[in-house]
Amino acid sequence: MTHSPVFWDKVAARYSKKPITDEAAYQEKLRVTREYLRPDMEMLEIGCGTGSTAIAHAPFVKHVHATDISSNMIEIAEDKAAAAGVSNLTFDVSCIDDLDVPDKSLDAVLALSVLHLLQDRDEAIAKVHAMLKDGGVIITSTVCIGDTMKFFKFIGPVGRFLGVMPLVRVFTVQELVDSLIEAGFAIDYQWQPGRGKAVFIVARKAGPAR
Ligand SMILES: C[S@@+](CC[C@H](N)C(=O)[O-])C[C@H]1O[C@@H](n2cnc3c(N)ncnc32)[C@H](O)[C@@H]1O
Repeated sequence: MTHSPVFWDKVAARYSKKPITDEAAYQEKLRVTREYLRPDMEMLEIGCGTGSTAIAHAPFVKHVHATDISSNMIEIAEDKAAAAGVSNLTFDVSCIDDLDVPDKSLDAVLALSVLHLLQDRDEAIAKVHAMLKDGGVIITSTVCIGDTMKFFKFIGPVGRFLGVMPLVRVFTVQELVDSLIEAGFAIDYQWQPGRGKAVFIVARKAGPAR
């Protein structure tokens, strides 16, 4: 198994209570995402965490399938969705590697604060590309620490060994953009609220992988 839920299960309760670091940027990302949503859309979220964003977007699409590797995250997400009275939202505990979604069945995939946590982002992006209908979108917000903290490559594995950090991959915004383009996406929207902040990208399935 290349990905493990252990770190995320451990921090789930704390994560659910943590305030959003940059509320204005979060609201702007919700606003831009909404511009891409339609009431007939099938949306998948990978790494949905405790479900807040899936719950926020559910009223604007037909159905959201929100998934996460951590059962503790999903447990909290299910409670939140029940409290919010959202009915067009289903949750599943699943690693991105194990998701079995028919090809060309989705209109939108959300990957928020998760692509940098994967062993192989190219593999995940290719998988998302296959799941999307032609013209469908991947919407991602990703911390690209290769631009500001290259040294993390050395301290990250120590933090991981000590169990205080998850797997974190080091890459730049340009490397992420290149991955999306190589996979057959065209960048529709790109915004980074500030240096070192997560880059927000909406990329449209434009053709086959290069
Ligand atoms: C930083 S949190 C982000 C949660 C949420 N998307 C957000 O923006 O608040 C990363 C989430 O990705 C999940 N995750 C990590 N690796 C994963 C994988 N391989 N497959 C699916 N989910 C994963 C973690 O369990 C965690 O809930």
